[in-house]
Amino acid sequence: MKALWRRRCARGVRWAEGWVENRAQRSYLAQMAIREIIEVPDPRLKVVSEPVTTFDAALKTLVEDMFETMYDAPGIGLAAVQVGAPLRVLVIDLQPDDPDAEPEVCTAHGGHSHTHQPVKREPRVFINPEILDPSEEHSVYSEGCLSVPEIYAEVERPARIRARWQDLDGKTHEADMDGLMATCLQHEMDHLEGILFIDHLSRLKRQMALKKLDKLRKVA
Ligand code: NI
Repeated sequence: MKALWRRRCARGVRWAEGWVENRAQRSYLAQMAIREIIEVPDPRLKVVSEPVTTFDAALKTLVEDMFETMYDAPGIGLAAVQVGAPLRVLVIDLQPDDPDAEPEVCTAHGGHSHTHQPVKREPRVFINPEILDPSEEHSVYSEGCLSVPEIYAEVERPARIRARWQDLDGKTHEADMDGLMATCLQHEMDHLEGILFIDHLSRLKRQMALKKLDKLRKVA
């Protein structure tokens, strides 16, 4: 999933530049890789992902690569199927503002200067996730998706959920979630069923979104 603020202020662009430096430095230590993100209308996005049964080194590598790919994009959530691995694996990092950090001057806009609050890294892995208890109350977020670049639309989902998932060691966890975390987890879990956020829109709105994406691709 992409977050709206990334579109509003291009912070992700500046932030991603820093990430590239870090990546070069760390390449001595680990063989992490940015994987290609599959985009609509690729039929692989429609595949229903398989449960994870083996919690091995290959799974850890997949998760490391998914984080690297998500931060580089940049995004706040990514499902394994989006990098061509149809397994029930999600990574999420909402990257909230870090209130303790010094504001950074933003140079991404070329004309005017302003500051951004640096973000905190809070990487989370969800393997074989389930939703146990969706609230009847719904909330609306303007969602975006790394597989549907540059398109944003309001989607309504249960405002609060209880989730159960496994970690990289296969240990089971449960937690209540609300706000952006609840929305993001539901958006990513849709990917495991081959569902995209634009599938929640009316047919007309979905067609308009895909048309807009086609136009943007022709310009690029
Ligand atoms: Ni998505």
